[in-house]
Amino acid sequence: MSRGVREELRGVIPGDLLDLVQRSFDIVGSKQKAVAIIEVPEDLRDYEGAIAHALMRVQKNVASVLSKESGRAGEFRTREMRLIAGDPDTEVLHRESGCAFRLDPKTVYFSPRESQERGRIAEATGDGDEILVMFSGVGPLPIRIAKHCPGVRATAIELNPYAHNYCVENIYLNRVGDRVEAVLGDVREVAETLGRRYDRILMPLPKGAHMFLDVAVPLLRDGGVLHFYHWAPSEDMFGEAEELVKAAFREEGREAVVTERVKVSQYSPRYWKVRIDAVG
Ligand SMILES: C[S@@+](CC[C@H](N)C(=O)[O-])C[C@H]1O[C@@H](n2cnc3c(N)ncnc32)[C@H](O)[C@@H]1O
Repeated sequence: MSRGVREELRGVIPGDLLDLVQRSFDIVGSKQKAVAIIEVPEDLRDYEGAIAHALMRVQKNVASVLSKESGRAGEFRTREMRLIAGDPDTEVLHRESGCAFRLDPKTVYFSPRESQERGRIAEATGDGDEILVMFSGVGPLPIRIAKHCPGVRATAIELNPYAHNYCVENIYLNRVGDRVEAVLGDVREVAETLGRRYDRILMPLPKGAHMFLDVAVPLLRDGGVLHFYHWAPSEDMFGEAEELVKAAFREEGREAVVTERVKVSQYSPRYWKVRIDAVG
């Protein structure tokens, strides 16, 4: 959390506890309206209201403060959140690199911290590529890519109906409806209905994408690019991901060459979200 918030809380929270106030937190939204998502350690529970109000005074666009009540869980990769202060309506319009994403962090997965990664993928995409974005959430990847590469055609598959509905709205908001199609459903089931192959397939589901490699590889054109995300221990960040991907290509009688290894973000001192790109 910023120095401003700690200073705002001086004299309100005892000195020894003040150091426990977070230094950084996620803000989702725009200059007009944003939601802050914070973690409140047990020792600060009595002061959570004071912390939330201090945050809103310092960061004037923050209209609601939510506290993380659990880790990400379940197929939708959402978490329990509790409103500590502010507006109970936590739907926002998040702005990022010329795009706008409407979403409610209470019902969908979205990470503002992954903007740089989305930019890297948009840069790597060839204009004219046909792409498949599995696990597409509210659509940040297909929309960033389509905005960057006007010749791209993208299909986005998402299981969470809230996220899918936001994706449909976001496609419209960003005026990429002629190039991006959103499909609601399980990747495994939707894959059977697609009837074509892709130049580039994205698998942004670090905890579980490997279970869908048998679906993804047959949908990739020969020589196409697979962007595979994985949850990996810091002592061996890419080994398991590479083995899984290479084995999936071998199953199809193809050989994968790993062309890129990226540390995307750190979950905890021991675990990372990583991406490997494979061509095959
Ligand atoms: C880690 S989130 C990433 C969302 C989005 N790509 C983003 O970057 O914001 C993974 C998403 O995959 C979706 N998902 C999980 N299992 C799925 C499945 N079998 N078929 C389709 N979507 C699935 C979840 O609902 C969630 O929105």
